[in-house]
Amino acid sequence: MSKLYIVGIGPGSKDYLTSAALNVVGLADIIFGSKRALDLFETKVQKIELDTKNMIKSFKDALGEAGNGKNVVILSTGDPGFSGILKPILKLNKDIEIEVIPGISSVQLCAAKLKIPWDEANIVTMHGKGISEDILDTINNEKPSIILPNFKPRELAQFLIENGIDRNKKAAVCEKLSYEDERIIEGSLEDIAEMEFNYMSVIVIY
Ligand SMILES: C[S@@+](CC[C@H](N)C(=O)[O-])C[C@H]1O[C@@H](n2cnc3c(N)ncnc32)[C@H](O)[C@@H]1O
Repeated sequence: MSKLYIVGIGPGSKDYLTSAALNVVGLADIIFGSKRALDLFETKVQKIELDTKNMIKSFKDALGEAGNGKNVVILSTGDPGFSGILKPILKLNKDIEIEVIPGISSVQLCAAKLKIPWDEANIVTMHGKGISEDILDTINNEKPSIILPNFKPRELAQFLIENGIDRNKKAAVCEKLSYEDERIIEGSLEDIAEMEFNYMSVIVIY
């Protein structure tokens, strides 16, 4: 039976792709995904690249193709259910059967790299939403905060300092996790406020 599969690919390297993801992609008639997600799979089936401008139209096309009887895969970086594509697709979908294949989130890999038990952490995403003032209360609750910034860790660190958070607070940035040029930078909030990072970054405030 045709379905729409929403498949998490993990943080980016093939090392973190699950067998479940590979198996489902192997059965697909058509695959949608960002360039970095599509590049992980050598397949002859039709690939359609997602970018921020065509995202909603592509999701509608994907649902349409599944409605026409095709096995459709939409790839999501990390896990589809955390700051990923699951939410917008559920909003658009009325009657197509959907299956979600989980992936390893950038938050999980960041927690592993920094040896943070993440059941004791604040998990926050600001990705695409802007910096929310709620973060000021969250940061002050004694737990480490693992945050997907709104693209720039530097801007979040500056915002926190400008709003009274101690500039010497311990912080870290996990950049381009799982890629060959991965960087883990540990220092103070002030250090992070003065550095440039790739948009693929998770910030931790202790
Ligand atoms: C649209 S969100 C997707 C999050 C994804 N669903 C997850 O579970 O990791 C994209 C953001 O996730 C983070 N991210 C994704 N891949 C990453 C990686 N390999 N290293 C560091 N951060 C990453 C970055 O903050 C990036 O801007």
